[in-house]
Amino acid sequence: MITLCISGLGKTGKEIAKVLLELKDIRVVSAICSPNSDKRGQDLGQIVGCSDTGVVIEGSDDLEQVVFRTRPDVAVDFSSPEAALKNAKVFSRMGVNIVIGTTGFSKNGLRKLYVLANKYENGIVYAPNITLGVNVLMLLTNLASNILNSYDFQVNEIHHKNKKDSPSGTAKKIAVEIEKGLKSSGNPEVCTEVPITAVRAGGVVGKHEVMIIGEEDKIEISHESFSRRAFALGALRAVRFIDGKTGYFEMNDVLNLKKVLQDYLEKDSTPKKPRNIAYLHLEETQVQ
Ligand SMILES: NC(=O)c1ccc[n+]([C@@H]2O[C@H](COP(=O)([O-])OP(=O)(O)OC[C@H]3O[C@@H](n4cnc5c(N)ncnc54)[C@H](OP(=O)(O)O)[C@@H]3O)[C@@H](O)[C@H]2O)c1
Repeated sequence: MITLCISGLGKTGKEIAKVLLELKDIRVVSAICSPNSDKRGQDLGQIVGCSDTGVVIEGSDDLEQVVFRTRPDVAVDFSSPEAALKNAKVFSRMGVNIVIGTTGFSKNGLRKLYVLANKYENGIVYAPNITLGVNVLMLLTNLASNILNSYDFQVNEIHHKNKKDSPSGTAKKIAVEIEKGLKSSGNPEVCTEVPITAVRAGGVVGKHEVMIIGEEDKIEISHESFSRRAFALGALRAVRFIDGKTGYFEMNDVLNLKKVLQDYLEKDSTPKKPRNIAYLHLEETQVQ
């Protein structure tokens, strides 16, 4: 059983809470909102639209006391970069592992998360791209840029009009994966500034698209989340991964992508069986 604290009960945090509340191996023990939120004091069930859970939502100004009382193993944070960093300091100091889905951190903010995990020896998953599908998209674009290093790359993303950061953390990370692939492809003349376009409109949950365009052909790889449940399923995977671990991780660690690639390459490099000589001879005579 993993005990859990949910920090940030906005559009995404609520959906995550709803999914996690249904599970048998996870028990939500606390839920955190901003100090002046009108959610404060309400039952978590009322906020996510199910029956009462017995978990009363508390303000982040009381976080230390809440953690001390409810003893979560893991905290899941989908709040704002400022709140997430502040809350991460408390969670880390108190030995709670964290899955941070919040995006929009500055470079310095990200560095602070990394330092926290090292200083307090807790476990942190930083996942600006929590859906499983988007992580597969990143892996595929990294491979494609390694192979198609003379092609032009373009990242396009569209999200709902209330999303604050633009471009999204995921789009920036996709661009970094492409740049890494281009750099390691060995062609010194490749362009390494991958352009990103971002659109904020309507209620789009989230779509990322990579266009890979050459002189004669084009590849498009795209990922679209149909609902915020996709975020919840990724968060669940990260929670199960980080429970009991120490150190700083990202979603490629959670999904064990290095091993997947290694297994693929090893399978491909297993020595081929020599073909039957008599059969080969027959093939040759047929060709003549
Ligand atoms: N990693 C991914 O794949 C992924 C997917 C979706 C979203 N996100 C990111 O997750 C974050 C939240 O997204 P969203 O769409 O859910 O935004 P949102 O609806 O604005 O929710 C953010 C919530 O954080 C709460 N909050 C503010 N200060 C807080 C504090 N000190 N402690 C705890 N909660 C606090 C706010 O509400 P109250 O004031 O009522 O508490 C609000 O409900 C954003 O950074 C977004 O980009 C990431």
